[in-house]
Amino acid sequence: MLTMQKVFISSDHAGIELRLVIKLYLDGLGYIVEDYGCVESSVAVDYPDYVQNVVNCVINNTLGFGILICGTGIGMSIVANRHKKIRAALCYNVEVAKLAREHNNANILCLAARYINYEEAQSIVYKFLTTKFSEGRHVQRIAKIDNCL
Ligand code: RB5
Repeated sequence: MLTMQKVFISSDHAGIELRLVIKLYLDGLGYIVEDYGCVESSVAVDYPDYVQNVVNCVINNTLGFGILICGTGIGMSIVANRHKKIRAALCYNVEVAKLAREHNNANILCLAARYINYEEAQSIVYKFLTTKFSEGRHVQRIAKIDNCL
């Protein structure tokens, strides 16, 4: 049984193809996916413009997760992490995705469309969405993150 049901996703032009693959994958797993663009892979857009909707959804739906995709995943993660209560993690393999959930209670997964293949991305997404926060010693560390902002 999967732990999370709702996923909010967006990408810039570099991440469109991977975003569509991930959407189909999540649809197949029974997740409710809300897609916030972008729409045209041949038109370059600015990744900061595709963060806010997903951030708002994650803040307002504590049981939901966000996925942000750009070429490297770095731009999306920088922008998302400007927001209090957001812990966006750029995950490049399954183990890191697991730890991002267990240790950091990450609520947004950032993916590097140009540096991982579809199969890797699907495995990372699955691990991220199905791994629980470990709590324990990590609770006070998470609390300190919000105090920094
Ligand atoms: C777009 O070319 C690229 O800069 C963007 O997708 C992302 O990698 C930025 O961090």
